[in-house]
Amino acid sequence: MKHLLSIMDAKDDFEKIIDDAIEMKRNGYEKVLKDKILAMIFEKSSTRTRVSFETAMQKLGGYAIFLSKNDIQLGRGETIEDTAKVLSRYVDVIMYRAYSHKNMEELAKNASVPVINGLDNEEHPCQVIADFMTIKEKKGELHGLKMSYFGDGGNNMAHSLMLAAAIFNIEMEIVSPKKYWPHERYIEMARKIGGKLKIMEMNEEAAKNADVIVTDTWVSMGDEAEKEERLKAFNGYTVDENIMARAKPDAIFMHCLPAYYGYEVTKSVAHGKQSVIFDEAENRMWAQMAILKWALDKL
Ligand code: CP
Ligand code: NVA
Repeated sequence: MKHLLSIMDAKDDFEKIIDDAIEMKRNGYEKVLKDKILAMIFEKSSTRTRVSFETAMQKLGGYAIFLSKNDIQLGRGETIEDTAKVLSRYVDVIMYRAYSHKNMEELAKNASVPVINGLDNEEHPCQVIADFMTIKEKKGELHGLKMSYFGDGGNNMAHSLMLAAAIFNIEMEIVSPKKYWPHERYIEMARKIGGKLKIMEMNEEAAKNADVIVTDTWVSMGDEAEKEERLKAFNGYTVDENIMARAKPDAIFMHCLPAYYGYEVTKSVAHGKQSVIFDEAENRMWAQMAILKWALDKL
């Protein structure tokens, strides 16, 4: 069975998924998931992930059920194991947005249908598939590009981006205060598959010659208690016109959203002419369609 818990789970089919998403966006699609049902468990807030999964299922002829953790018995102490076993009797695929990657693995271990990670503390694979689809649309190619990521180097986006960059032989630069560098396990994984990965604190050379500049919030969901400390630590890491000017003139700016303007990025960069943030958000839906087809063996 195909789970998508990490971007590594899609490694062999990554480009096929992206190409299918681009093809559906350009030339239309068939209702190949007719009568298929997706259950979506959310422990955290969501705009894009929820709406893109619901619209994706609808467009392909299926149906999605939204389950906030507090509305189901999971929020009152029913185990993840039992939740997985019960939901598997009703639906064809489960999406889970969780606080803990361990819980994500526990759900997948006990489900008899595919489980898709809709974000946890370690990874955000669906977002990164949509991001790489967006890069391919804009640049025509993935292999051989250079990506510079600024900000929280140890969060879910940084980890999934690092691995995806390694898969496509993209030169990856993580620019982050030392305390927030990626977890060792992810550095090892990226290097093991041959990733050209550089990790550094802010410096004059950062972003030089980059094709893609990326950032994400400094305070991810679950990190709220560290907000003050984080805002201090990331001071000086804002993506602004100066950083954009060091990259290639045709570089694109990306952010998975939600954005906090004046912190990780200025509003003028995020809404400026190099920014592709709203294409990225739209592409969540096309990518989700391809991911669901992949998980249900319809790709
Ligand atoms: N980018 C992203 O996952 O957004 P949501 O939190 O709104 O789903
Ligand atoms: N790193 C962010 C991504 C939000 C889509 C978070 O986990 O809150």
